[in-house]
Amino acid sequence: MDLFRKKSMDYMLNQANGKKGLQKALGAFDLTMLGVGAVIGTGIFVLTGIVAAQSAGPAIILSFIFSGIACALTALCYAEFASMIPASGSAYTYSYTTFGELFAWILGWDLILEYGLACAVVASGWSAYFQELVRGFGIELPTAISAAYNPSKGTYIDVMAMLIVFVLSAVLLTGVKESSRINNVMVIIKISVILLFLVVGIFYVKPSNWSPFMPFGFSGVMQGAATAFLAYIGFDAVSSAAEEVRNPQRDMPIGIISSLMICIVLYVAVSSVLTGMIPYAKLNVGDPVAFALRFVHQNWVAGFVSLGAILGITTVLFVMMYGQTRLFFAISRDGLLPKRISELTEKTKTPTRSIILTWLMATIFSAVVPLNQLAELTNIGTLFAFIVVSISVVVLRKRRPDIKRNFRTPLVPYIPILAVVSCGYLMINLSKVTWIGFLIWFAIGLVIYFGYGYRHSALGQWKAKEPSAEPAEN
Ligand code: ALA
Repeated sequence: MDLFRKKSMDYMLNQANGKKGLQKALGAFDLTMLGVGAVIGTGIFVLTGIVAAQSAGPAIILSFIFSGIACALTALCYAEFASMIPASGSAYTYSYTTFGELFAWILGWDLILEYGLACAVVASGWSAYFQELVRGFGIELPTAISAAYNPSKGTYIDVMAMLIVFVLSAVLLTGVKESSRINNVMVIIKISVILLFLVVGIFYVKPSNWSPFMPFGFSGVMQGAATAFLAYIGFDAVSSAAEEVRNPQRDMPIGIISSLMICIVLYVAVSSVLTGMIPYAKLNVGDPVAFALRFVHQNWVAGFVSLGAILGITTVLFVMMYGQTRLFFAISRDGLLPKRISELTEKTKTPTRSIILTWLMATIFSAVVPLNQLAELTNIGTLFAFIVVSISVVVLRKRRPDIKRNFRTPLVPYIPILAVVSCGYLMINLSKVTWIGFLIWFAIGLVIYFGYGYRHSALGQWKAKEPSAEPAEN
């Protein structure tokens, strides 16, 4: 059995340069907005309070800086790949080119977990925020349909999560240009709301609230960094858009790196102001940013922030779902999932079946499965992908120095090694349950690969036809 199936780089470059395919409609600005859209959401509007109160105290600022550095190092590695192989599929595609098919499937399967769970976590967060907002207008949903299945609390299905996932799937069906325009508007509103919080909040900062700075010690800061990592997830989704960008070699690195930089700055600023406004122990609430504003009696600003948070979380969900659709598209085009999933609808140039599959998965996960512990699985899946991409940069520089790279990760191998070490460190700070869940997911993935993917692989068919071969047609 040829498990590694070399020649995968030639195959993938061939796929990326194919004439048939997705619409090339995006530029550097759209990509940056996609990145900021994917990154800033529940992490800042929900998680900051919990991490500050339970793990890090005011030193959550350091937690955000540490996770941010790990992501920035990785982003430099993603940027090299995105400028070299402008194909859909993100880390799945990169590991395909570097390590071959089996490893790519493992990574693809890992990313399905990342995006799938992230969609579900974020949709549930959206539903909670939305219900909180409409409660202010006296509208209350019946308990049974207000959250995922948990009979002890009387909840069975999260109808609002289902609704938002449905609406966003419909938007995705309209085409990438239209979708990205809607995303740009929502992201601009979200950034405005965060800036409003910073401008108003800074006047209420009392430096005494920053002391003690590290009430839970350094280990608390690192635990906080591992949990707060969720806040950065999403910049990698930008790389899923590679095949829909007009000038990917130039724009992909700009989009990935600039969106992450904007987010790091905003996170550090928001966590500084937040913990300066209010004693950290009081922040154990679901809507810490709005709560801090109410705490200083700025209720009208708090209202804006809640609205902005809902829009903000919407764009996260949107880009995560977008990433998931392009991942299914790429994996199925390579034959590792049924080929029909990657068929495009002629008029909109969107992979309709991939969108329907994403919609089904997000609906089932968010509407019925109670997530709680599972949410951390998103982090472990993403960290694993980051490590593989960082290693791949070093391997491919040695193996294929000939391929043109419009963006080169600086200081190779040091930057990738630092990325691996920092992501690995965050990974070991995650709980045992998370690790067990992660390994079970892998085992299921291997069964699917050997049961289906290996026999239907497009690379396998392409290799069989070598040397004159083209990849198998969709
Ligand atoms: N980074 C995304 C968020 O914070 C997952 O919502």
